This record gives sequence, structure tokens and C-alpha cells, in this order.
Amino acid sequence: MLEIKNLHASVEGKEILKGVTLTVKDGEVHALLGPNGSGKSTLSYIIAGHPKYTVTKGEIRLNGKDVLKMKPEERALEGAFLAFQYPMEIQGVNVFNFLFQMAKTRQKKLSPVQFRKQVEATCVELGFDKQFLDRELNVGFSGGEKKRAEVLQLMLANPSLAILDETDSGLDADALKTVAKALQTLRKPGFSALVITHYARLLNYLEPDVVHVMKDGKVVMSGGASIAHEIEKHGYKAIEAQEAKK
Ligand SMILES: Nc1ncnc2c1ncn2[C@@H]1O[C@H](COP(=O)(O)OP(=O)(O)OP(=O)(O)O)[C@@H](O)[C@H]1O
Ligand SMILES: [Mg+2]
Repeated sequence: MLEIKNLHASVEGKEILKGVTLTVKDGEVHALLGPNGSGKSTLSYIIAGHPKYTVTKGEIRLNGKDVLKMKPEERALEGAFLAFQYPMEIQGVNVFNFLFQMAKTRQKKLSPVQFRKQVEATCVELGFDKQFLDRELNVGFSGGEKKRAEVLQLMLANPSLAILDETDSGLDADALKTVAKALQTLRKPGFSALVITHYARLLNYLEPDVVHVMKDGKVVMSGGASIAHEIEKHGYKAIEAQEAKK
């Protein structure tokens, strides 16, 4: 489903990604860990098509298609969805209208009344007060509320590839459980996810198929969930020690 091969990318002349190779197969959930500044958000922005970054080498394929040749909106229509690490406040844009416009790109004849019911049901599933639907997108939302609003968009967008960039950071213990449970309902053929996180806690609920560790613009280790627990206990030194042994 998602295939990244030897991806090199830079921003303002500085090379950030230095040969990322990563494959997420259909139906799989992968976790991506890595120290601050290792390039995780950069990778997710590049998959989504942020114009700030220049890809200098390598390829990204989504459902077999060359993503780098597609505009950001074409990538979204192909099923890519990015839940931002730092969701932006967008003044003057009502949450419900935003979600409705998003859904209408796929279902031209969608009824607002019918869609409102669907959105409210998803709010209940996420433990997200439906009053947020009548506010401006993320404006004045707390950190955790912004993250829940991202997950609400994700659930309604029904993507084939969801990238969650530290969606768990800022969520309280109960919200984390509710969100993880909701994300678990999406697990099925035709849905894959790349979950960027610093904590093993979310992974206890999500049970990723593969855990990757990124360091200095490269994926330096891939394996089972035990990697995340090892890092949580001993920090990235544990990984460095294993790398040195190779
Ligand atoms: N415009 C820029 N100019 C120079 N360096 C930049 C620029 N934008 C990003 N970087 C650098 O790219 C590196 C990767 O940043 P990125 O946000 O991808 O890290 P990350 O792995 O997501 O970190 P975190 O865990 O803190 O979210 C960082 O060192 C950052 O300072
Ligand atoms: Mg980041």
C-alpha cells in the first residue's frame, strides 16, 4: 500500500531525509519512533505533499501510484490522510462545514442532515462534545481537543493510509483509550496506518504490526513491539548499543 524507497529530501537547502526506506502493507499498522528532530514529521509532510520540501532522490508509492507526481489534493483523494502534530487554528471555518465540504468531495449528493447524524455519532464514539462542531476549526481548542478534532476528521475521511503524527501527545489517559479504540475499528483490509509516537502507551492499545526507529533522517531499525518498550525503558541508547553490535 505505502512504499517508500531511498527517500532523500531537503528544506531550505538542508538535507533532512537521508535515504528512508519503509513499506506498510495493506491492512497493517506501523509505528514510527525516533528522537526529536530525526525527520518523522518531515516524512509525513512529504507523503502528504507539503510544498516546502524538495525531494532530491527516491520514490513514494501509494496503492502502486507514484505519489511524488501527484498534487496534495490528488494524494488525499487517493486515500492519504495526515493528522498533524500541530493542528492549525483556522479562523472563520466552522468545524461541521469543513467536515461536510471534505465529505462532499467523495459523495457529491451527500445530505447535510444525514451527514450531521453521522458526524454526531462519530463524536460520541470519540467522546468529543458535539458543541465543537459549531466552533471555528481548532480556534481556542485545548491541545487534546485539537488532537481529537484531527481524529474526528480522520474517522470521517475514511482514508486508505492514515498518518498520525503524535496524535497521542496531549491526550489524557481516558481520551487516549477512547481514541485508540476508535482507531482499532478502522483496522481492516484497505486501511493502513503509520503512527508516529514517543510513547509505548498508545502502542499497547494499537498493537502495531511493525515498529520502526528513525534516526538522523533514516530508518535504522524495524521490528516488533518490544522495540518500543525497550526505548521507553532505556531510551535510544538501547538502540544505539544494538546498532553498534551489528
Ligand atoms: N526550515 C528549516 N530549516 C532548517 N532545518 C529545518 C527546517 N525545517 C525543519 N528542519 C529540521 O529538520 C529536522 C527534522 O524535523 P522534524 O520536524 O521532521 O523532526 P521530528 O522527528 O518530527 O521531531 P519531533 O519528535 O520533535 O516532532 C529538525 O532538526 C528540524 O530542525
Ligand atoms: Mg515531529
